[in-house]
Amino acid sequence: MISDKTEMSTSNTDWRFNHRSLLALHPKKRVEQNSLPALCLKRNTYLVLLPFFCIFANVKTKNMQNDKTTRQISIIAAVASNRAIGWRNKLLYWLPNDLKRFKQLTTGHTIVMGRRTFESLPKGALPNRRNIVLSRRVGNGEEHSDVRFPGCDCYASLQEALAHCREDEDIYIIGGASVYRQAMGVATRLLLTEIDDTPAEADAFFPPYDDWKAVSREEHGRDEKHAFDYAFVEYVRE
Ligand SMILES: NC(=O)c1ccc[n+]([C@@H]2O[C@H](COP(=O)([O-])OP(=O)(O)OC[C@H]3O[C@@H](n4cnc5c(N)ncnc54)[C@H](OP(=O)(O)O)[C@@H]3O)[C@@H](O)[C@H]2O)c1
Repeated sequence: MISDKTEMSTSNTDWRFNHRSLLALHPKKRVEQNSLPALCLKRNTYLVLLPFFCIFANVKTKNMQNDKTTRQISIIAAVASNRAIGWRNKLLYWLPNDLKRFKQLTTGHTIVMGRRTFESLPKGALPNRRNIVLSRRVGNGEEHSDVRFPGCDCYASLQEALAHCREDEDIYIIGGASVYRQAMGVATRLLLTEIDDTPAEADAFFPPYDDWKAVSREEHGRDEKHAFDYAFVEYVRE
């Protein structure tokens, strides 16, 4: 019983408070804080400010997008029909035109590769390019990168490597499989040589790229120097 009475009196008080607040709707009366009209006024203020906020957010987002696209990060790879790219740390195909194109595109720029791909290069660092090798076994004095990777800059992560590149540096991610996988999220385009063949054996594969859109395609037929049909295809994000 006692508790019922207490409850009633509390709810009456609430009603009276709300009733008084509603009376304050009259323009000449002072608007009570937290009353309905005060909240309406606050909401109107938000509505007035909302377009300005949207314009600011839009400009900010556009700037961020521009920042992101200033730097060209290209993934370059020769890929079989089943996305195979390597076997026992070696390339699967010998296509002189593909090597020529690779040289033309990357010379004068920066190439980023995994430690295993570096080890597969017959003469070490590629000339006339900034060579960057990724290896987790650098730093903390564990390994001396100048000895292991002569002529290369070496970093312990892709993010660290990119952070040490200038904004105007054209970056080519040249493999292998593990580095391609990591770079798919930051790359701006894929420069693929698609080879019309499925190799009998492969242990390294390019990641799926179904959500990228082909913007150019240059077909080549097999000839005395090229054992398979192949195409140079450029992809950008959908
Ligand atoms: N078809 C093509 O276009 C093409 C191009 C290039 C390579 N390939 C083929 O790809 C195969 C090699 O690929 P893979 O995946 O085995 O090796 P990989 O990617 O070339 O190298 C892997 C190594 O790179 C280092 N690494 C990778 N990600 C790193 C990160 N985020 N931070 C620091 N270090 C990182 C690690 O070195 P540590 O173990 O020293 O830490 C890792 O063991 C070979 O068969 C090669 O011929 C094909």
